[in-house]
Amino acid sequence: QYIRSLSSSAALHAIKHVTVIGGGLMGAGIAQVAASTGHSVVLVDTSEDILKKSAKGIETSLKRVAKKKFAEKPEDGEAFIQKVLKNVSTSSDAASIVQGTDLVVEAIVENLKVKQDLFGALDKVAPEHTIFASNTSSLQIADIASSTARLDRFGGLHFFNPVPMMKLVEVIKAPATSQQTFDALLEFSKALGKHPVSCKDTPGFIVNRLLVPYMMEAVRLHERGHGSKEDIDVAMRLGAGYPMGPFELLDYVGLDTSKFIIDGWHAMDPDNPLFGTSPLLNKLVSEGKLGKKTGEGFYKYK
Ligand code: NAI
Repeated sequence: QYIRSLSSSAALHAIKHVTVIGGGLMGAGIAQVAASTGHSVVLVDTSEDILKKSAKGIETSLKRVAKKKFAEKPEDGEAFIQKVLKNVSTSSDAASIVQGTDLVVEAIVENLKVKQDLFGALDKVAPEHTIFASNTSSLQIADIASSTARLDRFGGLHFFNPVPMMKLVEVIKAPATSQQTFDALLEFSKALGKHPVSCKDTPGFIVNRLLVPYMMEAVRLHERGHGSKEDIDVAMRLGAGYPMGPFELLDYVGLDTSKFIIDGWHAMDPDNPLFGTSPLLNKLVSEGKLGKKTGEGFYKYK
């Protein structure tokens, strides 16, 4: 079905072999979902030690999925896990395995220079037809792609955490991304069982472009003394029907991550009031209060 729905030229290179670079929170999730949907996946990170942890994480997550999906027949669940694990291998040398890949999905550290260096090197060794995609949250796809000579075969695939649970993928068409590449990325997202939406290469794409300024505005409202964080959270839960208030959400996302995004946008467009920074957020980050993951952010966690 998936192959048939592609145009005949794109069908020549339907995405079957996927290289996921970065075996952290997002990369391991992307590798798991791609393997679960029948793709052959190589997961790449900088060391075998990290890759062992990523593989263990994928297995644990698959067990959770299987327990739910095959509650009636645990033996089918075990077969499912083994089948998926067979589709994943690992490597600490991207250049050596990229030969046989249709798509490279990058989910490494959020640093422009590091991403550019990675793609620049891979561009020299990857086959002609291979599509490159970044899972960046806050950088411009065009900036990352500029280190390569395959601007037409470069796009964005922005997944959400936790990848196995979250249905959305933002598929990003940079100015030089070809229609064929964009279509292939859309089809790939659907083949993963996700719901893709398309977006231009603009800061934060859709979700973060709306969510980050909203959360920052909540912090500013609180900084002005116009409402307590508890009241603002209750107000947005009960008044707007949001499952979490903005301060709870900031703690969940991580205050360092939120600060990193807003600082980057502020540097790019200092006159945009939506991209204003916050003294309170900066103070909490400097004190190491990064949210749930450190036990304290705007709130304290046990
Ligand atoms: P993470 O820190 O959990 O994982 C990053 C992994 O990349 C680490 O295992 C690290 O060893 C590896 N790595 C770093 N440089 C590398 C290189 N040159 N070659 C190979 N591996 C390398 O980070 P996370 O949270 O998975 O984020 C990855 C990317 O996904 C970032 O660009 C981030 O902006 C984006 N993203 C993150 C989301 C989140 O909720 N955490 C959501 C959507 C996108």
